[in-house]
Amino acid sequence: MALLNANLKPVDGFSRLTKEKQIEYISSLFDNPARVRRLMELFSLQDAEFQKRFDEFSENTVASYPLPFGIAPNFNINGSLYHIPMVIEESSVVAAAANAAKFWLPRGGFHTRVLSVTKKGQVHFLCDASPEKLMAFEGELENYLQIRLKPLTGRMENRGGGIRKIRIIASNDKIANYYQLDADFDTVDSMGANFINSCLEEMATGLTEYFAQKLPDVRIEVIMSILSNYVPGCLVEAKLEAPVTLLAGIHPEISPEDFARRFALAIEIARQNVSRAVTHNKGIMNGVDAVVLATGNDFRAVEAGVHAYAARDGHYRSLSSIDLSGGMFCYSLTLPLSLGTVGGLTGLHPMAAFALELLGNPSAQELMQIAAAAGLANNFSAVRALTTWGIQKGHMMMHLSNILNTLSATETEKVLAREHFNGHKVSYSAVEVFLKKLRNAGA
Ligand code: MEV
Repeated sequence: MALLNANLKPVDGFSRLTKEKQIEYISSLFDNPARVRRLMELFSLQDAEFQKRFDEFSENTVASYPLPFGIAPNFNINGSLYHIPMVIEESSVVAAAANAAKFWLPRGGFHTRVLSVTKKGQVHFLCDASPEKLMAFEGELENYLQIRLKPLTGRMENRGGGIRKIRIIASNDKIANYYQLDADFDTVDSMGANFINSCLEEMATGLTEYFAQKLPDVRIEVIMSILSNYVPGCLVEAKLEAPVTLLAGIHPEISPEDFARRFALAIEIARQNVSRAVTHNKGIMNGVDAVVLATGNDFRAVEAGVHAYAARDGHYRSLSSIDLSGGMFCYSLTLPLSLGTVGGLTGLHPMAAFALELLGNPSAQELMQIAAAAGLANNFSAVRALTTWGIQKGHMMMHLSNILNTLSATETEKVLAREHFNGHKVSYSAVEVFLKKLRNAGA
């Protein structure tokens, strides 16, 4: 199947076409339109009602794009057992999480806690008054806005959330006349993006009207109003803690003390070296994102916020840390996570709703802790492998199925290949040679 470049022209009014017409148009760009139509059909849900709901999540939806929905079982988190749903395409992530969960199950499990729950939004504006002149009104403006926004905040306040603080911040040393109205929010069990943005837009109007009355000679120009995905006030911590001696048996030739020393060095390298830190944190986000996706949360927001947090002291560093004092292996992860368990896709996407049910319908704070535990689990498995037997052994074994599928292996060939590669190193060419030999022998 190939795209016919000669057929590619700008298309007008695509979003106004029916879904069928959109598929017809996209198919017509290919040398085999029937195959494209078949593909779209194949990747549409059998249940028309659900498919319609999916179509309405986003514009111009022509099909669904499935990803594996896996379960990493046996997470002991603060003494409770969880089987964690993870949505991820990378072969070894669920296995790595499950492996770490199993390893830590009899060693005390994961200890997690939420450190803070504040989210932030900003109204960015220009004002030709001095900071002193504006600041004199800060307290009164905050009261005025809190009252003005009651129709928007009432329901959230009933659930225990709302606007916690509103300040004026002068940044006119960076951009001429530039200020922010900086607001702290608690959105309880919702991620709260729509709530925060609606509040901010009303605050922007309120800000302009307030100063038009109080300081009629002063000019206010609102540039934009938007939440911040940088949430260092919404932090969660996950910890694994055990006497070093309990780490015996990880590798037949490495003592628990030596394992702990090498593991701690790997963490310190990721603290100091940015090239390593990015990959180290990517491994953490393998676990975190998979839970975020499974539960219908916004992984782009989480990613952006987490990486900014990793660079909060001006140097991008590891999100996890370790302390080996007193013969203890005390290993932890702290990261900002703004998650919701109500609103957004959480109730609309049947698999997201199921993922939350499987987790016992957690509060947002509980979900933060579960996602952090998954992140620490994946980091533990990755660093354990890297500092002992190397990452490729496990990775390639998990990737074997993908290679076999790429090489169109039959079910019998797959069984034989899995047996063979149990004792041999997996690589694309090794699998290719193995299949060739098998096929030649059979021919
Ligand atoms: C691969 O998805 C993740 C790792 O590279 C993480 C790490 O290096 O720590 C294995």
